[in-house]
Amino acid sequence: MAEPDFLTTARAFYDAVAEDYADHFRDVLAARPLDRAMLTAFAELVRASFPADGPVAELGSGPGGVAAFLHGLGLDVSGIDLSPRMVELARQTYPGLRFTVGSLLELPLADGGLAGAVAWYSIIHTPQERLPEVFAEFHRVLAPGGHLLLAFQVGDRPSRVERPFGHPVALDFRRGQPDRIAGLAAGAGLEVTTRLVREPEGEEKTPQAYLLARRPG
Ligand SMILES: C[S@@+](CC[C@H](N)C(=O)[O-])C[C@H]1O[C@@H](n2cnc3c(N)ncnc32)[C@H](O)[C@@H]1O
Repeated sequence: MAEPDFLTTARAFYDAVAEDYADHFRDVLAARPLDRAMLTAFAELVRASFPADGPVAELGSGPGGVAAFLHGLGLDVSGIDLSPRMVELARQTYPGLRFTVGSLLELPLADGGLAGAVAWYSIIHTPQERLPEVFAEFHRVLAPGGHLLLAFQVGDRPSRVERPFGHPVALDFRRGQPDRIAGLAAGAGLEVTTRLVREPEGEEKTPQAYLLARRPG
């Protein structure tokens, strides 16, 4: 079957901007204590549920900084991303971690193998009508009791980014309402345990949302 346009467009966008994106956002977590707190809480939840260190994946891992942060917290983490250039860059920057090309709609992962999954600003390029498939994939790859952490921008309308860093590409950044995204997680059989919204900081234009969920069992 032909690939949907939104995947082709997102891949071309992130392949084009990979180096500039990595440079621009390299130190972003250092400046965002709440983001680090959510990732740290996620890591503690995973370790409490899976004391024998079950694997964790960052789904839509970009240049790999979030995966590296989770690794620094002691998790056995790997990354998956749509953009081959992002994967190449993440491998170069963090040679000790595993990064693979793949799509949220068809994750290259076995059923029930993950103790935890993080989708950190990666569901934001999937049209609303395709998100149920993405959440079905999150449910499929998580082990019973496995944890999911999501981050996304809050809002109703997409923001279109054109010519980022001067590159001739454009992409919609889709915002979401926490209740609607939580409903999608619940619809896929996940139990939402936490919703957190913080006000915009720095160059952010909208509030930012964080959702924690787990696969029952
Ligand atoms: C805004 S960036 C965030 C990257 C990383 N999570 C971070 O916070 O640094 C979004 C990433 O998600 C990836 N992505 C977008 N749609 C995807 C999909 N359907 N499957 C896999 N990755 C996807 C992009 O290639 C890009 O690297």
